[in-house]
Order: sequence, then C-alpha cells, then structure tokens
Amino acid sequence: MKTFASSITKVFYGTLIHSVSLKQIEYIKQGLLFIDNQGKIARLVKNVAQDKVESTLEGVESDKVIRLNEDQFVIPGFIDTHIHAPQYTFCGNGHDLPLLEWLDTYTFPRESKFADRDYARKLYTKSVARSLRNGTTSACWFATIHLDACKELVDIIQEQGQRAYVGKVNMNQNSPDFLVETTESSVKDTRAFIEYVKGVNSKLNHNPLITPIITPRFAISCTSELLAELGKLAQEYDLPIQSHLCENLNEIGFTMSLFPDSANYTSVYADHGLLNDRTIMAHCVHMKEEELDLMKQKNAGISHCANSNFNLKSGMADVRKMLSKDIKVGLGTDVAGGYSPSILEALRASRSCSVARNVDTTLLVAELFYLATVGGARVMELDDIIGNFEVGKEFDAILVNTAVDNSPVDVFDHDTIETKFEKYLFVGDDRNNEKIFVQGKEVRLPGSNVVSHK
Ligand code: GUN
Ligand code: FE
Repeated sequence: MKTFASSITKVFYGTLIHSVSLKQIEYIKQGLLFIDNQGKIARLVKNVAQDKVESTLEGVESDKVIRLNEDQFVIPGFIDTHIHAPQYTFCGNGHDLPLLEWLDTYTFPRESKFADRDYARKLYTKSVARSLRNGTTSACWFATIHLDACKELVDIIQEQGQRAYVGKVNMNQNSPDFLVETTESSVKDTRAFIEYVKGVNSKLNHNPLITPIITPRFAISCTSELLAELGKLAQEYDLPIQSHLCENLNEIGFTMSLFPDSANYTSVYADHGLLNDRTIMAHCVHMKEEELDLMKQKNAGISHCANSNFNLKSGMADVRKMLSKDIKVGLGTDVAGGYSPSILEALRASRSCSVARNVDTTLLVAELFYLATVGGARVMELDDIIGNFEVGKEFDAILVNTAVDNSPVDVFDHDTIETKFEKYLFVGDDRNNEKIFVQGKEVRLPGSNVVSHK
C-alpha cells in the first residue's frame, strides 16, 4: 500500500523564505517542507519545535530529513526571463557601444561561430552551468539561428537539469551575410527544432522541463512575412514567444521605418500574431502609454533587464508604472548586454534603476524578490507550477548558506535570519548557493566544488 511517507523523497527542516505577494516575503521558521517523488511540495508545516519534528514526520525516515542550521535557509530558485546562451562567450566585454552598433560589432560575429556544433557544445556547457550555479532554476534562453547548435543547447540543459524555454533565433533581414537565413529555411528549421524538443521530452520519464519558444530576434531582423509565419507556428504548437521591444531609441526609429503600417513598435508584434499571454518582451524601456496598455490588454509579460539597459546605455525602464498597471514583470540578466549571469545582480541593478528614476517610488526588497521568483513565473505563465513554496507546486529551490568558506557575506551576532537573507540578496553570490534543486532533484553542477549528497 502506498503511504504518504513512502512517496516522500526529502524533507527540509529549518527556515524557508518565499514571496507570497508583491509586497510580502514570508519567513517560515522551523518549517517542515515535504517533497514527493514527483518533485512536488507535498506538505508544509510551520513552527515545528525541535521536540515535535519526529511526530510531525509521519513515518518519513529521518535520513531523508535535511536539517538546516542557523546560517542556512531555502528559497525558491531564481527565474531568468531573458538570457542569450551564445553571448556568455563575451560576457563582461563590449560596453562601449549602444545596441545596434554593439550587435554589429560584437554580437553577430560571436554568434556566427555557433554554426559549428562542437564549438556550441563546449561553449553552451559553460553558459548553462554558470546560469544554474547562480541559482537560476528556470531560464528563457535565446540560442542562435543554427539548428544543430540549438539542439546541443537543449541536450545540455537537459543533462544539467535546468527548467527552460529555449528559442531558435529567427533572422532573415538586416543581418550580416554570415548570420542570416531565408524565410523558408528559418520556418523549416524552427519547425524541426520544435519537433526535436518534443522528442527529447518524450524520452524523459518526468514532466517535460524544456519547452521550445518562438524567438524572432526583434522586428528589425525579421520580414513581415517571417513574423506572420512565426505567429502561426506559435499558434499551431501552442508555444510561448519571446523577443526584444523598445530597448533603444534608434532601434525604435528603424523599426517604425520598416513597419509603417503598425501604430507603434508593440503593435508590430501584435499585428503578426506574436503578442499574447505567453509572450515575453525584453526591455520595454521606451514604451508609450498605449504600448503598455496593449501589453496589459494582451496579458503579455515584460523581462526587465536593468543591468543590460545600463551597460548598453539603453535607458531605465519604468517598472513602477508597469506594476501599477498590473502588467506581468520578471527579471532578465540579458547576458551579454548584461555583464552578469546572476539574477542577484539583476535584482541589484533593478533597485538602482528604480532609485535613479524616482527616489519616491523605489522598488522595495519584497518587490525585488517577488520579481526574481513569482514575477518571473508569471511571465513564463508557470506560476501554478513554480515561483514559491505553495503546496502542490514543484520544488525548484536554492539552499543558501551565508556562512560557507569564502562567503562574500559576513554574519555578525546581531544578525537575524531576515538580515542574513537581505545580505545574501545584496552581498551574496554563487558561493552561497550550497545546493540547487529543480523539480525536487539536486542539480549536479559540472566543474562545481559543491559536493552533492544525493
Ligand atoms: N535586440 C536584438 N538582439 C539583441 C540582443 O542580442 N541583445 C539585446 N540586448 N538586444 C537585442
Ligand atoms: Fe536580449
């Protein structure tokens, strides 16, 4: 007979911290969090005194219990709603140029190297590992136009165990000779890529963690015909969509010269069937009021990429206004427009951006943590599956330790779990990420010095 205890694979005992609303972080002290063999949160009991733990375990063997000490806590994994896998190869370089010149000078030549599948495997292994190690348990990846390299990226993400949306990038105009497709090959390869991911998922005997995402690079690099074909593919396969929107003033001007029949840049995507509740638009720095309203009306999500927007001097997005309109917002690292693959850095840049915009409406710590977790889950339309520790959701999490050897966080006697958590958000880094879990399983990081116990 199947009992509750026999379905449980892990139990955490200690402090659990998650976001329960835009304004509220819940600190669960002496929590018992039960994870089942589907990787789901089966039960959560709060305030369990030490002497009540055994009786609350309901027969779960004590070797399945991970007891946290006073410097450790468990938080939901971070969600990176916008990152370019091939661009990790020049992460930290090329901050001298604005967007369109940056693309021509640095990005396109580097991305063209991914025509070589072996090169892609080597480089993508590092991109994905770096993202995971930084606590990103779910990511929305842009690859390149190259089908074989896109397949490699999917294989690597699957091997490393991250939850992901993966996009084969589409580009059939205003692109260099060495990084461009025909309309026909772009559509054909996108279809082949979608079928490939479905095949990979069908081989796995757990819930599919990897979803293909329709990825027109941006309107500038796709003809109207290609955009329309991609809109149809998204509908045919019921897939999410990602692109770039209103990042830079020259980009907007060029886009409107290419699509004079659309009312504004946001409408270009809407007019081609690419703006709906599964759409993720990165940046949205220079949005007209009616464009934000259109995003809301379509229930499309925004990836706020503050680090990138500072680096490429694109501007500062008005996240407070987006939130006041109840538009879905998550955080994106936008490597390598952004110089860091860490959502912690994205969170810090988001705070700086909000302060620089208006000191009276800065984003609060609770709001920033929400954007990094639940906000990202909403943008991916996965908020009934991930984002926090509600019972029934899947367990994607980071076991944080503020007192590891070499910790960038220093802990003092006066610190509480609340101040340790805030220090982690603003001072911590991947050294503090002691263990990372996706769908209940601990992720083994290649090249990592993290010792896996299970
Ligand atoms: N717009 C079109 N392509 C890109 C890209 O690779 N990075 C950024 N930041 N913006 C883009
Ligand atoms: Fe980007």
